[in-house]
Amino acid sequence: MSGARRATAFAPASVGNVAVGFDILGFAVETLGDRVSASRAAAPGVAIKAISGIAGELPIIAAQNTAGRAVEAMIEALSPGFGVELRIEKGIPLGSGLGGSAASAVAAVAAANALLDAPREKIELLKYAMQGEAVASGSLHVDNIAPSLFGGLVLTVGIDHPRVKQIPIPTGMRAVVVHPHLYLATKEARAVLNRKVDLADFVWQSANLAGFISGCYTNDLDMIRASFEDVIIEPQRQSLIPAFADVRGAAMAANALGCSISGAGPTIFAWALESDAARVRAAMRAAFAAKTIETDAWVIDMTAPGARVIDQAP
Ligand code: HSE
Repeated sequence: MSGARRATAFAPASVGNVAVGFDILGFAVETLGDRVSASRAAAPGVAIKAISGIAGELPIIAAQNTAGRAVEAMIEALSPGFGVELRIEKGIPLGSGLGGSAASAVAAVAAANALLDAPREKIELLKYAMQGEAVASGSLHVDNIAPSLFGGLVLTVGIDHPRVKQIPIPTGMRAVVVHPHLYLATKEARAVLNRKVDLADFVWQSANLAGFISGCYTNDLDMIRASFEDVIIEPQRQSLIPAFADVRGAAMAANALGCSISGAGPTIFAWALESDAARVRAAMRAAFAAKTIETDAWVIDMTAPGARVIDQAP
């Protein structure tokens, strides 16, 4: 079978960390996403032909661009016998903490995969997309890449040989995602983090991650509520996000099960039951508004599928 001449893929935004799973846990946010078109080219390597949408200043040199670097890694590994031209349409605000760089990398490898005579499994694409994400964030982490690629709430174990597990979403659970109109670079939000972790905090965070995941598997809302706390990363980053404490407090007062930073921030997310979600969303937005910060906000069910090809030409 011969691969497509041109293919366009969509990859959703995502919330990384999910409070308790720094760099390993994330969920897809279908309401936003990036689109990338890939075309076969005679010239070897990867060329970025266009960047559009809410792009801001993104590098056009493939090796410096998350989508470009991801497809370069793919070509280096697979030697498909043709080059690839990319056209990137950004639908996720830069520096929002909503996995924009991951979505570009994921959409790019998903589109380029459709060009291959023998397309690869998603688990292999994850490794190429990770190389792209590393260009933007300066580190290899998978908590945005994996949900953007696979959809749903996803735990990833391992970097060289990653294993991906889709975690069940508790019945009636919604995520409230509130994006303040502010910019925060992931590299900056990673640079503030201490390299060492206090032993007591390590124990606490381990318990929270285990409690949270087991709570999702068993529909145990009390366990999820009790374990929905990031005791290591959030305390170090919250000063980077104006109004964080107020927004979190407002969400919890409106009966959220938990509330934390989305990825590196400044977006903040909460989990709430369907019956409370609209109230939690309004409360979080009002807390930002009280500090004259404008927001966009969504309530999502977290069950969205991951990246997929939406158009292709044979
Ligand atoms: N896990 C990453 C972080 C997500 O918190 O730095 C940002 O890309």
